[in-house]
Amino acid sequence: MAESISKIYRTTQGRVLALESISFQVGVGEFLCIVGPSGCGKTTLLRILGGLLAPTRGTVYFHGEPLDSPRRQIGFVFQKANLMPWRTVLKNITLPLEVQGLSRAEAHALAQELLELVGLGWFEKVYPRELSIGMQQRVAIARALIHDPAILFLDEPFASLDALTRERMNLELLRIWEARRKTVVMVTHSIQEAVFLADRVLVMSPRPGRIETSVSVSLPRPRQLAMLYSQEFSLLSQQIRLAIHHCCVP
Ligand SMILES: Nc1ncnc2c1ncn2[C@@H]1O[C@H](COP(=O)(O)OP(=O)(O)OP(=O)(O)O)[C@@H](O)[C@H]1O
Ligand SMILES: [Mg+2]
Repeated sequence: MAESISKIYRTTQGRVLALESISFQVGVGEFLCIVGPSGCGKTTLLRILGGLLAPTRGTVYFHGEPLDSPRRQIGFVFQKANLMPWRTVLKNITLPLEVQGLSRAEAHALAQELLELVGLGWFEKVYPRELSIGMQQRVAIARALIHDPAILFLDEPFASLDALTRERMNLELLRIWEARRKTVVMVTHSIQEAVFLADRVLVMSPRPGRIETSVSVSLPRPRQLAMLYSQEFSLLSQQIRLAIHHCCVP
C-alpha cells in the first residue's frame, strides 16, 4: 500500500525531511496501529496514506491503484472532532451527503443508523457544545463512516480523553470495527492502546520517520479489558517500548 514514501516539507527554515523510505502493506479488514515519538511524522504519514497530502517521493496504492487525491472510500477521524457548532449532531453527520445531493430522508436514515452504532441514538437533535469530548469524537467517527468507507484512518482520536473514558472508547471502537469490518489504520501515542486494539503495531523512528519494526499482536479477539493485565500483554508492550527506546535513545 505504501511504497518508498518520503516527504520533505519546505519551510522558511529550510527543508525538513519528515519521512524517509516508508513501505508497508495493510491487509483488508486489518486493524493497524502506528506508534512513535512526537514529531516523527505519524500525522504526515496518515495524511499521505489517505490522499490528503502528496508524498515527495514514492507511491500510495489503494485497491491496487496509485492514490493521488482523497476518495469517498477513505474515512478520516482527527484528534479534534471539528464539528460545525451551528449544526445539530445529525446535521453534522449528513453534511457530506447533502453535498453529494442525496435526499434528506435517505441522509437522515443513514445518519440515524450510524448514531445508533456509535451509541448516540438519542442525541441527533443536540448541538456539539452540549456533548462531552468523547461523545463529540463518536460523532466524528459516525461522520467518517457516512460514505461506508473501505478504510478508516484515525489520528490520535482519543488523545484528549481521560484514561477511563479512553478505555471505554477503545472498546466502542473495537465493537464498531467488528460490526462494520473496516480496515483501520490508527495513530496513537499510547503503547497500551495500540496493543489492546491492533492486529499489528508499526513502530516509527524519530524524524525522519522510518518504520523501525512491526509487531504482530496475537491476543485473541474479542479483546477484553482483563487482557491488559495478562503476561502476553505486558510482553508485547515491553517489546514495543524497547523498540521505541532502541531507536530514540542514542
Ligand atoms: N505543514 C508543515 N510544514 C512544515 N513542516 C511540517 C508541516 N507539518 C509537519 N511538519 C514537520 O514534519 C515533522 C513531522 O510532523 P508530524 O505532525 O507528521 O509528526 P507527528 O508524529 O504526527 O507528531 P505528534 O506526535 O506530535 O502529533 C515535524 O518535524 C513537523 O515540524
Ligand atoms: Mg500528529
